[in-house]
Amino acid sequence: MATISLLEHPRHTDHLRLRDGRTLTVRFIGADEGEALQRYFRNLSVGSRHSRFLGAMSELPPGELGHFLHVGENNRFSVLATVTTDGRETIVGEARYGFEAESGRFEFGISVDDLWHGQGIGAALIGNLECRAAALGAHVMFGDTLRSNEAMISLARKIGYTFMRHPDDWKLVRFEKPIDSIAEEIPCASWKLVAAQRALEAVA
Ligand SMILES: CC(C)(COP(=O)(O)OP(=O)(O)OC[C@H]1O[C@@H](n2cnc3c(N)ncnc32)[C@H](O)[C@@H]1OP(=O)(O)O)[C@@H](O)C(=O)NCCC(=O)NCCS
Repeated sequence: MATISLLEHPRHTDHLRLRDGRTLTVRFIGADEGEALQRYFRNLSVGSRHSRFLGAMSELPPGELGHFLHVGENNRFSVLATVTTDGRETIVGEARYGFEAESGRFEFGISVDDLWHGQGIGAALIGNLECRAAALGAHVMFGDTLRSNEAMISLARKIGYTFMRHPDDWKLVRFEKPIDSIAEEIPCASWKLVAAQRALEAVA
């Protein structure tokens, strides 16, 4: 259901408007962007990497990097958030998400480059993920974060997530939100593709 061929990847690209008028592009990671992603992670502050990976890590281990680069493998997807200035694209954030069709649950984790914090990128990226989740048929979005991660907890609270205990780890808190009606409010490319497909099926 969530399989998306390599040829279709560009059709799932979104362009979002940031507070300062700049355009944030959210797109699937390319298979050849492993080094760029590792550089992005290495450039994060120690604290941001710790928050993102829920532990000490300087970059992704090679096996994990391979999973990040195989978009759609096991219903798991990686997107990059980028800003282009003078023709030069910079990775300013990333997200990884996974969808479990049986439960309708969609799990995600995100990060934003420290230099780009506080500009609405995290909120915009999660809003976009909510639409991608709805397009996949998900009903609930959730993520786990360290109890000490004030930035992520404030962000999640601000955009309507509720909090609960993590089932296995007292150091973490889970945040969750139902997403059934969201995609129509904030359409994304994936949602438009699904809507177009449904319209075709309706007339067939
Ligand atoms: C959490 C994180 C993604 C937020 O990204 P961001 O782009 O800076 O967030 P935004 O600019 O969209 O902030 C939206 C809202 O979140 C809250 N927020 C963000 N950073 C905050 C901080 N440091 N302290 C308190 N509230 C904060 C605010 O309510 C903010 O709204 P405002 O700008 O109107 O005040 C970013 O801090 C990050 O990458 N941290 C490291 C990795 C991480 O923690 N990932 C989460 C694991 S799932």
